[in-house]
Formats: sequence, structure tokens, C-alpha cells
Amino acid sequence: MTVQRVLLLGATGETGGSILQGLLTDTESFEVHALVRPSSATKPAVKALADRGVNIRVADIEGPIEDLVDVLSGVDVVISAVSSETELAQIQLATAAKEAGVKRFIPCAFITIAPPGGVMALRDRKEEVYQHIRKLYLPYTIIDVGYWYQISFPTIPSGRVDYAATIKPNVTIHCGGKASNTLIDLKDIGRFVARIIKDPRTLNKSVLAYGDVLSENEIFEIMERLSGETIERNHVTPQEIIAERAQCAAALEADPKSRFAHMMATIQDYNYSKYVRGDNTPQYAAYLGYLDARELYPDFRPKGFEEFIHDVLNGKGEQVYKQARVQ
Ligand SMILES: NC(=O)c1ccc[n+]([C@@H]2O[C@H](COP(=O)([O-])OP(=O)(O)OC[C@H]3O[C@@H](n4cnc5c(N)ncnc54)[C@H](OP(=O)(O)O)[C@@H]3O)[C@@H](O)[C@H]2O)c1
Repeated sequence: MTVQRVLLLGATGETGGSILQGLLTDTESFEVHALVRPSSATKPAVKALADRGVNIRVADIEGPIEDLVDVLSGVDVVISAVSSETELAQIQLATAAKEAGVKRFIPCAFITIAPPGGVMALRDRKEEVYQHIRKLYLPYTIIDVGYWYQISFPTIPSGRVDYAATIKPNVTIHCGGKASNTLIDLKDIGRFVARIIKDPRTLNKSVLAYGDVLSENEIFEIMERLSGETIERNHVTPQEIIAERAQCAAALEADPKSRFAHMMATIQDYNYSKYVRGDNTPQYAAYLGYLDARELYPDFRPKGFEEFIHDVLNGKGEQVYKQARVQ
């Protein structure tokens, strides 16, 4: 089998960390390189990558394009898992990838299913990158994954799962809790990516990779049944989400550089798309033209949500963004 040389951007992040693990598990298929910005090159997290056998390439993705072309030379696949604030810098990276002859570019998608055009600002920034890739005629694959299990489970009164929760308390039910949502264990993203980038069927396609599809009512029922505790729910109506989304968008417009305003606006866009519109489903993904990774790889067993909750209740969960980085 030919070994693909893969260059990963964002290897020290949450999504990138999962992808890195997926690639390093398959050394017969991949030679793994990480693209690191100069200001992070001496960080312990980057040293830890090198200690795991990852080849480090240092360049500024917002710097001169010739340097980027150099850094991308000889690379077969570029995968970007960059933070959402840096999304648009991928435009230049894609241009450099085309010039360097990269055979497949995986832009930073890895979010829920949503249409372009004003539903989610995050999605629209990603779409700007996808349009640029298509204009370049650069081979690509877009991989979306639904919402992480790690930020989808409710907290319980005893505080038993607080150690693994990012938001505490997390007991909100949106729009009656009936909307189905595509979900994934963050740790499965990398395992899926390793399959998808070897597969010629996924070239120039969008792919949805996921573990479960559940409504909030089903999620709360699973947590209550497995923990034996009763969760007091906080209900939010569609009108309240729409009003809060407008307020958050206005706050961001007033202070576009504020990370907090950016985060709040992104959360409200997610709530609007997932619960008011009900976008984040495999059926809508199929309508938008996505391939379904579960159909492409019937032998692949992703972790189910119930199994994940079982682990969290048994102290085997892990909090995401321990370094307080929130996208
Ligand atoms: N589906 C979901 O539920 C979900 C949840 C959260 C996020 N996401 C999406 O996943 C994607 C990745 O987010 P994340 O939260 O996983 O990322 P993250 O943990 O914040 O990590 C971001 C990575 O990007 C790197 N980076 C940032 N700016 C850079 C720059 N200018 N040059 C080079 N590298 C840079 C960081 O490297 P340094 O070490 O140098 O800082 C880090 O490795 C985003 O598109 C986000 O929207 C999806």
C-alpha cells in the first residue's frame, strides 16, 4: 500500500488531536506531519507532538505564500482543524496547496449539518473557503460530524458528571426537545477521517460522519436512566432563541474582536440551526448532497451516546478545552 504524506494544521487542538490520533494509529497508510505557527513552535504541546513521531513543519499560514508552497511541497493530503477565528486564513493555504500539487485538501469543516446563507456565520465562513477551493479546482473532501457528545450531555443534581462538563449546569431543553440531532464522540472523528482520506469515493465530495442521532428528550432520558437521578429541565422557546440570537449578533457587530461575543453568537447560531430549524440530521445532509460515512464503512463501529454516558458516569470522561479555548 502507498503511504500518504499527510500535513495536519491544528494538531494541538481538540479536533486536530483526535485526527492526529486517528492518523498515528495507521502508520502503514500515513506519514504524519504537523504544520505549526512560529509563535507556537517552542510550546510543550508541539514538543509532545515531535515526541510522538510527528514531523514538525513551521510556517505562518498568514505569511508569504512562497513559504507556504515550500512547506507544502511533497505533501499528499492537507487536513485543517484550525480554530474558527482563523478560518479565512485557509484561503491562502488552499492557494498554496494548489501550487504545491497537493492531491487532497480537507478544509476545516467538522461541524453540524446546516445550509449556507445566513443560518450560521461559522458555516458561511467555511463555505467561503470551500468556494475558493472549487474555484482553484483543488481536489478536496469536506467532512462534517454533527455535535460532539462531550458538549451535548446534561449535568445531574449530584454533580457526578461535572468533572467532564464544559458548561455547568447544563439542563436546557430547546424548543420542546424533540428535534433530532446528529452527534459524535470527539474521539471518533480521527478514526473516521483516517478512513475517509484513503477512500477514492470521497474525493470532491462532502461526507457526514457520526455516531448517533438523538433528540434532547432522548439524551435527558438516557442520562436519567443510567444515573438514577432526575434532572430539573430549563425550557427555552423558539422565540427566545431567535431574540437571543439577534441580541448576540448585535453585540458581535458592536465589538467584532471580542472572543466572548464571537462565542455567544456562534452558540446562538447553533441553537437556531439545530433546534429552531432542525437542520442537523442525516436526512438533511443527504438532501444537501453529503455521502454517509456509516453507509460507506458498514464495518466501522463508532461509540454510541449511551456507551459514552456510561463511561462519563464511571469517571472515564474527559473535559474538552481544559486550556479554556472555546470555539
Ligand atoms: N462539531 C462540534 O461539536 C464542534 C465543537 C467545537 C469545535 N468545532 C469546530 O472544530 C474546528 C476546530 O476547532 P477546535 O475547537 O477543535 O480547535 P481548538 O481546540 O481551538 O484548536 C485550534 C487549533 O488551531 C491552531 N491554530 C489557531 N490559529 C492558528 C494559526 N493562525 N496558525 C496555525 N495554527 C493555528 C491552534 O494551534 P496553537 O497550538 O498554535 O494555538 C490549535 O492547534 C472549528 O471549525 C470548530 O468550529 C466543532
